[in-house]
Amino acid sequence: MLENCPRQSLKAEGLSLSRIVAGMWRMADWKMSVNQRADFIAQCLDLGVSSFDHADIYGDYTVEALFGEVLAREPGWRHRMELVSKCGIKLISKNRPAHRSHGYDTSRAHIIASAEQSLRNLQTDYLDLLLIHRPDPLMDFAEVAQAFTELQQAGKVRHFGVSNFSTAQFNALNQFFPLVTNQIELSPLHLQPMFDGSLDAMQAQGVSPMLWSALAGGRLFGNEARPALRKVLGQLEGQYKMSEAGIVYAWLMQLPCKPLPLTGSSRIAAVAEAVQACHLQLPREQWFEVLQAARGREVD
Ligand SMILES: NC(=O)c1ccc[n+]([C@@H]2O[C@H](COP(=O)([O-])OP(=O)(O)OC[C@H]3O[C@@H](n4cnc5c(N)ncnc54)[C@H](OP(=O)(O)O)[C@@H]3O)[C@@H](O)[C@H]2O)c1
Repeated sequence: MLENCPRQSLKAEGLSLSRIVAGMWRMADWKMSVNQRADFIAQCLDLGVSSFDHADIYGDYTVEALFGEVLAREPGWRHRMELVSKCGIKLISKNRPAHRSHGYDTSRAHIIASAEQSLRNLQTDYLDLLLIHRPDPLMDFAEVAQAFTELQQAGKVRHFGVSNFSTAQFNALNQFFPLVTNQIELSPLHLQPMFDGSLDAMQAQGVSPMLWSALAGGRLFGNEARPALRKVLGQLEGQYKMSEAGIVYAWLMQLPCKPLPLTGSSRIAAVAEAVQACHLQLPREQWFEVLQAARGREVD
C-alpha cells in the first residue's frame, strides 16, 4: 500500500508544506474539465500532497482561476491545503492589456495588487506563501518588506519567500523581511545550485528550497536525456521497484537542505511516484553513481 506524503517545514517555526508540492504551471495545457480538475486535486489531497504551487502568470494569467473554480465548488477543501503563488513578472498579454512590455515589477503597489488578484482568482481569502518570482534589478528591499508587512497584517498572506534568487540576493532581502524559501531550478540536467554554494547556504540557514523542473520539464526522458543517466536510473528502477522519475525525486530529496520537489505532471500516477520516493534512501555509492551519470564525469 502507498504510504502518504510526509510534511516538511520550510524554515524553523515557519510554514509546513507537503514534501511533494503539486505544480500548477501547466494546468491550462491539460485541457481538463472542472470535474477533471476537481478529481486531480482531490486525488492529490488523498495522497497527502496538500500544497499547490501557482503564479499569477501561469497559463497566461488563467491557471489560478481554473483552480479557484474548483475551490468555489468545494470550499471545504481550502483548510486541507496550502496555496503558494508568485508575483513580480509582467507579461504582455491580452489578459493584462495595461502591460506595455515584458518586465519585472516589485513595487509595493504591484505586489499588493497582484496578491489581491491571486486571492480573487483562487477564490480564497488568504495565501499560505507568496514568492517574488524573479530577482528584479529595480527591487527596493524596504519597499518589498513594506508590501509583505501590509499583506501579512491584513491576513491576506501568511508567509513570504523568493524564487530564482542567488544566495546574495536572498540574504539581502532576508535582512529586511524573513523569507521562508527560495524556489529554484534543480534536476540531474541542472546541477549548478549543488556546486555554487546555493544549497549549502540554505542548509546553513535552515531554509528548505522548493525545486522546480526536477525532471527538467520532461527532457530527462526525451531526446536530450543522457543515455548513461537513463541506464543508471533504469538499474535502480529495477532494484527498488520505483519509476525512474521516482528515483530522481528520491535522489534530490536526499540532499541535507531537505528540498521540496514540485511535480509538473497532469497524471496523478506521476504525483504518486513522487510520494513513493519520499520513503526511499539510496546508499551513498548509488547516490554518487547517479551524480556521475548526470554530469558525465566522475567527481574530482
Ligand atoms: N519558480 C519558477 O520560476 C518556476 C519555473 C518553472 C516551473 N515552476 C513550478 O514547478 C512546477 C514543475 O515544473 P515542471 O512542470 O517543469 O516539472 P517537471 O516535472 O520537470 O516536468 C513536467 C513535465 O514532464 C513531463 N513528463 C515526461 N515524463 C515524465 C515522467 N516520467 N514523470 C513525470 N512527468 C513527466 C510531464 O508530462 P505529463 O503531464 O504528460 O506527465 C510534464 O509535461 C511547475 O508546475 C511550477 O509550479 C516554477
